[in-house]
Amino acid sequence: MSVFEDYNTTCASYDNQRQPLGADIVVEMLRLNIKKQLKDVHILDAGCGTGNYSKALIEYGVGKVTLMDASSGMLEQTKKKLVNAIENNIVTDVVQNKLPKIPFGNGTFDAVLFSLVLHHLNPRSDGLNDEERPFKELEQTIAEARRVLRNDGVLIIIAQSEDDIRNNWYCQINNDITKKFVTKFASCKQYQDIFDRTGFQCIQKLRLLGTILDDHLNLDGPFQKAWRECDSYWACATDEELNDVMQTLKSLKNKGELDDWVIEHDKVNSHGILTMFLCK
Ligand SMILES: C[S@@+](CC[C@H](N)C(=O)[O-])C[C@H]1O[C@@H](n2cnc3c(N)ncnc32)[C@H](O)[C@@H]1O
Repeated sequence: MSVFEDYNTTCASYDNQRQPLGADIVVEMLRLNIKKQLKDVHILDAGCGTGNYSKALIEYGVGKVTLMDASSGMLEQTKKKLVNAIENNIVTDVVQNKLPKIPFGNGTFDAVLFSLVLHHLNPRSDGLNDEERPFKELEQTIAEARRVLRNDGVLIIIAQSEDDIRNNWYCQINNDITKKFVTKFASCKQYQDIFDRTGFQCIQKLRLLGTILDDHLNLDGPFQKAWRECDSYWACATDEELNDVMQTLKSLKNKGELDDWVIEHDKVNSHGILTMFLCK
């Protein structure tokens, strides 16, 4: 399970907002890097959530998908969404499992996708203090991906850098929340070191502009529980910090400055929201 978000609760509202930004790029990465037709490619969507990326990949023609997540609630939503693909054996397996372990044999998959899941692993190790984050579970997870991939298989990671997070307008209101949230994400350098140690070669790094939330610019969003539940950022906020966010927004609104403040601060469309890695 996530170390900080209860997905068995948030699964009810997660799909109100989320969109699979970059699924088209994932498909092209598969097409260009796996020497098979898309219909024969078998991908593991690890931390699949409600299956938004898998749904898009199947619509683009990926022929075989295995879905895996730690949350039974998220998997129930996935099964409803992908009922046809399950009936047609495009979805070959739906497995409840907690990373770092991946319960499949060596060389099972052509591709492994980790989309916005790796920051839910414990960044620390037992016995270390809060400042020490060796991302041991992340490294174990990437090593497991190496094991379950065929020799010529590809690893695709959709993650966020600290910059991606700070480009978001609502992550610039209370720095205490943002400071806690960013500690959960490995840096590009830390990813690179882990790829080197686990036998991967990173052949492409991309930054994606745009948003993962349909209603990204809902300026009342932080006041709405269902809106907040679509981004685990808010799971890092104490009641006091959440209250501070609301007071700041109210104050800007009362002064008639909120729209301009958001336009000035939101940089997801110019500087980026997601970082993708492609490894072989
Ligand atoms: C932000 S959601 C991302 C879902 C989906 N990949 C997407 O991009 O829409 C994070 C997902 O990771 C799952 N998760 C968190 N920790 C996990 C773990 N240790 N093992 C497997 N899944 C985990 C959660 O249950 C949740 O469904």
